[in-house]
Amino acid sequence: MIRTAFVLAGLALGLSAVTAQSNPIAERQQAMKAIGAATREGAAIAKGDVPFDAAKAQAVFKTYADAAKKVPGLFPDNSKTGETTASPKIWEDQAGFKAAFAKFEADAAAGAAVTSLDGFRPAFGAATKNCGTCHEAYRVKK
Ligand code: HEC
Repeated sequence: MIRTAFVLAGLALGLSAVTAQSNPIAERQQAMKAIGAATREGAAIAKGDVPFDAAKAQAVFKTYADAAKKVPGLFPDNSKTGETTASPKIWEDQAGFKAAFAKFEADAAAGAAVTSLDGFRPAFGAATKNCGTCHEAYRVKK
C-alpha cells in the first residue's frame, strides 16, 4: 500500500515535470499571471491602500526581475500557436523582444532596494510602463 502510494506520487511528479517542460505557453502565462498579481499589490501600495512595507515592495520588483529572466526562454518555435496571445512579431523580431525584457529587468532591478514610499512610486511607475509597451508590440488582441 505504502509502496503503491510512493510509486503513484513519483509518477505524478514525473508527469508534472514533463508537462512543465513541454508546455511553454502555460509556463509563460503562469509567470505573467504572477507579474499581474505583483502589480496589483504594487498598485495598492502606490495608492496608499496598503501601508508601505519595504519587504513587500521589494518582492514586487523581485517577481518582475525573476520573470524577466525566465520568460524570454519560453517562446520556442513550436509555441507560436495554440491558446496564446503571443504575436508572431516575437519570432520575427527576437532581438527587439529580448531587449524589451532586458529593459523591464533593468527597471525592476532599479527598484529592488527601495526603502520608502517616495522611492517606490517612481520605480514602480517606471517598471510598469514596460507592461503596455511590450504588450502593444508583442501581443495580439483576442
Ligand atoms: C517584454 C514583454 C512583456 C513585458 C515587459 C510584460 N509582458 Fe505581460 N505578456 C507578454 C506576452 C508576450 C504575453 C502573452 C503570453 C502568451 O499568451 O503566450 C503576456 C501576457 C500577460 C498576461 C496574460 C497572462 C495569461 O493568463 O494569458 C498578463 C496578466 C500580463 N502579461 C501582465 C503583465 C504585467 C502586469 C506586466 C508589467 C508589470 C507585463 N505583463 C509585462 C509580454 C510582456
